[in-house]
Amino acid sequence: MVSADCPVTPVIPASRYEQLVQSVVDYAIYMLDPAGHVVSWNAGAERIKGYTADEVVGRHFSIFFPPQDCADGRPEQLLRQALESGRAQDEGWRVRKDGTQFWALAALDVIRDDEGQVVGLAKVTRDVTDRREAALQLDNVRAQLFEAQKLEALGQLTGGLAHDFNNLLTIIISSARMALTSDDPERSRRMLQNILEAGQRGTDLTRQLLSFARHRTLDVASIDPSSLLDATRGLLEHALPDAIRLEVQVQPDLPLIEVDAGQLQMVLLNLLFNARDAIAGPGRIGLTVGVVGLSGEVEGLHGRFVCFQVQDSGEGIAADVLPRIFEPFFTTKAFGKGTGLGLSQVYGFARQSGGAISVHSVAGEGTCMQLYLPISHGHTHSLAHR
Ligand SMILES: Nc1ncnc2c1ncn2[C@@H]1O[C@H](COP(=O)(O)OP(=O)(O)OP(=O)(O)O)[C@@H](O)[C@H]1O
Ligand SMILES: [Mg+2]
Repeated sequence: MVSADCPVTPVIPASRYEQLVQSVVDYAIYMLDPAGHVVSWNAGAERIKGYTADEVVGRHFSIFFPPQDCADGRPEQLLRQALESGRAQDEGWRVRKDGTQFWALAALDVIRDDEGQVVGLAKVTRDVTDRREAALQLDNVRAQLFEAQKLEALGQLTGGLAHDFNNLLTIIISSARMALTSDDPERSRRMLQNILEAGQRGTDLTRQLLSFARHRTLDVASIDPSSLLDATRGLLEHALPDAIRLEVQVQPDLPLIEVDAGQLQMVLLNLLFNARDAIAGPGRIGLTVGVVGLSGEVEGLHGRFVCFQVQDSGEGIAADVLPRIFEPFFTTKAFGKGTGLGLSQVYGFARQSGGAISVHSVAGEGTCMQLYLPISHGHTHSLAHR
């Protein structure tokens, strides 16, 4: 009963909390004593871990960890961390009573009495195995998509390359014939020189193609944009018909950027293929690379970025199409001509690299795509295939 002259504070009896905790089945919620022994157990804990309260109360919580984690002292580490800082969080495998494992997201919070004495720890564990598997599958699909994109880009390049190799072989064969039949040693020397240069150009081309096609792990490293452009320029030029002029302008002394070089090559090819496809007949594509400062105008980004700008004199993008171009599988190209994945790859790459992509286009007036990538702050590292 609450007396009439006291301020009214609604008090929920402890047994209600107990009922609430007991009825939760999606989370294992239980208490540990300061040494790590189980003190209480709810329905969720029973459902997730398979033990009844009778079987588990009084036992040390390390029984939920795989043997290797126990050998590494993982349960004690977590307990110590929680006792020292008030809270510990962990993600990893846990073992059910039947020996099967699940991927757990766990939090451990210290509980103190009114005097500040530690009376125990509250442990909340979720089974997130499904979520983890979905994330792994998504990573897998992403990696497959990247490979598929690369194959498509290679397919697009082969037409132009076959033509170029034919030209190089023509030079080699005709020069060799002339060298064989000529009596003039100076002329023969010139012919041999031609053969050497044509062979060298062929080797450069195959090297670029191989480095692009090779199955590589995703490798984030500090790279020099100018060297990357030098290495890619041959591929870019070969992707274009003679009627389209490629004008490349690179600001000198560009700072390093921290990206996956193979993916950046793909992204540039994708932007270039799109520009090429938008130009019917003769036209121009400008590729400009320079440093820009942003203060929130592009996707809220701030700081200095290297901007790769691809501008074309093509048909432009209609206002009703523009909002959709980064959607996966959105294409206005005829069946078999486009998968609609190019720009979604560009978008994903820009976001993953801490940058952004922006587009300016007016139907009939060409398109300008700008890819912003953050400049590197020195360190270099590699990421395993994600
Ligand atoms: N430079 C551009 N000029 C005009 N339209 C463009 C340009 N870039 C993209 N688009 C439009 O955006 C759409 C989506 O581009 P995206 O690169 O994602 O797919 P795609 O080029 O159609 O197919 P894919 O790249 O998979 O072969 C294109 O179909 C086209 O309508
Ligand atoms: Mg495309």
